[in-house]
Amino acid sequence: MRIIESIADMKKFRLKLPEPVGFVPTMGYLHEGHLALVRHAKSENKSVVVSIFVNPTQFGPQEDFGKYPRDPQRDLAMLETVKTDAVFMPPVEEMYPPGYDTWVELGKITHRLEGAARPTHFRGVTTVVTKLFNIVQPNRAYFGQKDAQQALVLTKMARELNMDDLEVITLPTVREPDGLAMSSRNIYLSPAERKGATVLYQSLRLAEQLYQNGERDARKVHQQMLDLIQKEPLAQVDYISIANAETLDELDTIKLPALVSLVVKFGRTRLLDNIVLR
Ligand code: PAF
Repeated sequence: MRIIESIADMKKFRLKLPEPVGFVPTMGYLHEGHLALVRHAKSENKSVVVSIFVNPTQFGPQEDFGKYPRDPQRDLAMLETVKTDAVFMPPVEEMYPPGYDTWVELGKITHRLEGAARPTHFRGVTTVVTKLFNIVQPNRAYFGQKDAQQALVLTKMARELNMDDLEVITLPTVREPDGLAMSSRNIYLSPAERKGATVLYQSLRLAEQLYQNGERDARKVHQQMLDLIQKEPLAQVDYISIANAETLDELDTIKLPALVSLVVKFGRTRLLDNIVLR
């Protein structure tokens, strides 16, 4: 496994990699969800590149950039086990040299849900991912469904910016045995919060069950999810959304495919989760 820190070295090494090249961009502090993406990439491509870069531009000024969990040695050991070919770990100044001021920005779809709660977040994500795509030149790139809006945004960006030699692939959320979606931020949870956090997936399953039982009124589903979450004393709902799964337009009447997504805070930790009703 080759560890690469400079953009120039990554570009040089890319020329030697057997194609197709699969790419898994990450911010490190890896878990089984990331490894599932790498394994899948490995199964469909001749080479796999993983990036580890905690991207400052996707964090708001009050957010956890400084405190975001980092453990590169552990990450590298995990990536060895899934036979990653190259790990790209640029320092911040390589990606954003002094005076850097070029941005990739999408429209409406980035103003909803996470974009409404975190106004500069998607501009940071689309900018860094475009830069990473230009550096790594992958044939396929892999993202997790847990960040459903991010996956939609990046798929739309690749299509609309004519990144035609690149396929953006979204893979299912990997969950803990009790249903909690895997996330690097789960480390922030106290044991009591970790226990209470199972309420996210329970509320999504409730939404699915209500839909299967014939409920089509989004407000009623929303209310029942809220009632369930409010039974958990440590949980604070940030938002619950029932939206068109492609445009993210909020629905009054549930029509398929619908994205049911939510953010619930435990202390200062925001947990995201979603399911798609198909
Ligand atoms: O999902 C993430 O970890 C990040 O948003 C990404 C896609 C690596 C961009 O920094």
